[in-house]
Amino acid sequence: MGTFYVTTPIYYVNDLPHIGHIFTTVVADTLARYRRLAGDDVRFLTGTDEHGQKIERAAEREGLRPIELADRVVARYHELWRLFGISHDDFVRTTQERHERAVPAILRRMEAAGDIYLAKHEGWYCSGCETFYTEKELAQPGNRCPDHGTPTEWKSEENLFFRLSRYERPLLELYRSQPEFVRPETRLNEIRAFVEGGLKDLSISRFGLDWGVPFPDHPGHSVWVWLDALTNYVSALGFGAPAAERGSYERYWEGGDVRLHLVGKDIVRFHAVFWPAFLMSAGLPLPSTVWAHGWWLRDDKKMSKSVGNVVRPDHLVERFGPDPLRYFLLREMVFGQDASFSDEAFVDRYNSDLANDLGNTASRLVTLSRSAFDGRTPPTPCDDNPLIGIAREVVAEYRAAMEALAFQGALRALWRLLAEANQYLVARAPWKRLKSEGASEGVSRVLWNGLESVRIVATGLLPFMPGLAPRVLAGIGADAAPASLDALGWGGLPAGVPLAALEPLFPRIDKEKFMSEIPTGEPPGAPAAPRAAAAVTTPAPARPEGSAERIDIAQFGTVDLRVGRVLACENLPKSEKLLKLMVDLGEERPRQILAGIAKAYRPEELIGTQVVVVANLAPAKLMGQESQGMVLAATDPEGQPILLRPHRDGALPGGKVR
Ligand code: ME8
Ligand code: MG
Repeated sequence: MGTFYVTTPIYYVNDLPHIGHIFTTVVADTLARYRRLAGDDVRFLTGTDEHGQKIERAAEREGLRPIELADRVVARYHELWRLFGISHDDFVRTTQERHERAVPAILRRMEAAGDIYLAKHEGWYCSGCETFYTEKELAQPGNRCPDHGTPTEWKSEENLFFRLSRYERPLLELYRSQPEFVRPETRLNEIRAFVEGGLKDLSISRFGLDWGVPFPDHPGHSVWVWLDALTNYVSALGFGAPAAERGSYERYWEGGDVRLHLVGKDIVRFHAVFWPAFLMSAGLPLPSTVWAHGWWLRDDKKMSKSVGNVVRPDHLVERFGPDPLRYFLLREMVFGQDASFSDEAFVDRYNSDLANDLGNTASRLVTLSRSAFDGRTPPTPCDDNPLIGIAREVVAEYRAAMEALAFQGALRALWRLLAEANQYLVARAPWKRLKSEGASEGVSRVLWNGLESVRIVATGLLPFMPGLAPRVLAGIGADAAPASLDALGWGGLPAGVPLAALEPLFPRIDKEKFMSEIPTGEPPGAPAAPRAAAAVTTPAPARPEGSAERIDIAQFGTVDLRVGRVLACENLPKSEKLLKLMVDLGEERPRQILAGIAKAYRPEELIGTQVVVVANLAPAKLMGQESQGMVLAATDPEGQPILLRPHRDGALPGGKVR
């Protein structure tokens, strides 16, 4: 028994989760469950990446403070992980204190190693990647980001730099001596080629960004969000904490056996180049493996928020629960390569593998056994039949595949046993023998062998389908929660125990009907607005980004926005909603403006404060009174208005807002 530390990337909170995030997390969960059964001391971490310009801007667009946006999206993640049966031991947020104190702690060690210096930095910046690109890397016209395809912006500032160049050789040596550091091999080769191409020092601070961890000893600078984010893998364990709280860090990182980062190939460079270099500089142990899987594609493109082609599988989960989707994701993708997601492929897999191969086999055996043996499992087990050898091979194959993270291979192995068991049953035809010879010992052996094969398959499925596999096991009279992988050995099905009728666990999907009922998602290429009524991602009220028609600056200039000071304010008689404001706009006389804010503000709290007024709005009559303009307000989650005003005093009355 060893320790096994497995992590997912910490996901950005600028968007709601989609299939891609679900995938990596389900993989980590499957592995964690498998290692627990294998007897390891498992620690499974996931979480969210909450700092940086990208998040700051996303929050701004939604009219929220960054932490409010983060809280909202984190709540979705918690909901989703509960729904998907994710068995993580910890959920780290980069805004937590335990994390924010670990970042300076690692930086100080890097500084002590002489690896940090201040210098001027300029280049093309993509806030989607939170990364600078060189001209060469911006292959696309218009200086667009090679990953997102969106325009980059020129940035020029004093930054703190990390001497990444120093680690070129140590990294190459790492890849040479420990090739399992990056998996699969194609990714290792890419990474090696990248490092062989030469490493430049890396900018690790941003100037003037409010939403980040302050850079120690450098006021005005905050820590580059990727350095901040990568530190989560140790901060969550207690790195940087007082000695009494560092137990998990010592156990799973310093002294740990396996430290595995699961990531998508989009972020392999950060994990396989920068992260080990930071750790080497800080004198801390490295992860044992960075495993970079491929992408789920839609229309041959990576599914991503920025491309706008994400799949949120709400309708699949609503109808079938999370397990068939978990199964599909791990069965369909060769782990390490790209795969295409489609509802049709899901339905086909579900019907053939789950409804037919697994569901039908189990239910047929249960029905036969119940009718032959008085509502019980067969009374006579069998330890001498052709399925035993096959089961042994299959289990060895399954275990080897699980060790290698070849999930598809592991599932295929289990399905071979199902297929062999089916052939065996067809050849022995126990349903015929039951008629001719009654509930004989022979019939008992044959049915027991069939059920025992299903038991082994369902046991192997426990890490994949933690909700349904135990129900299959319980349904055939077997141990639904075995303590270890020993349960994969032949002979575990109890003989002669009561057997209830098997509930339909994998009802067949009528494909045509199903396909015609799929809620039409976002049209390809459209912005990914979260859908309402979604069980998985009940969305926050969000405005689809960029969907409004665009105007140019001259059109914007036709709106005369001005700062005004409220001189007087009172409730409008007979109106619950309206306040009457007298607002000084620096004009000859104050304006009378009516505003529907009476439920949110008392008149006396507004007197003397500043507001923003649309000054050239045509006058309007409300409840018999003239309104000579309009004040601007945002909306809180309850639908109540929040007045907009200059964020500090000093704006001139009547001053233009632009
Ligand atoms: O990159 N197919 O967060 P992120 C497969 N915060 N996996 C996908 C996927 C797809 N189409 N789309 C996303 C970040 N993923 C950083 C990570 S870690 C210190 C900081 C999965 O929200 C995959 O694991 O963009 C990918 O690496 C991750 O989500 C990116 O999530
Ligand atoms: Mg991303």
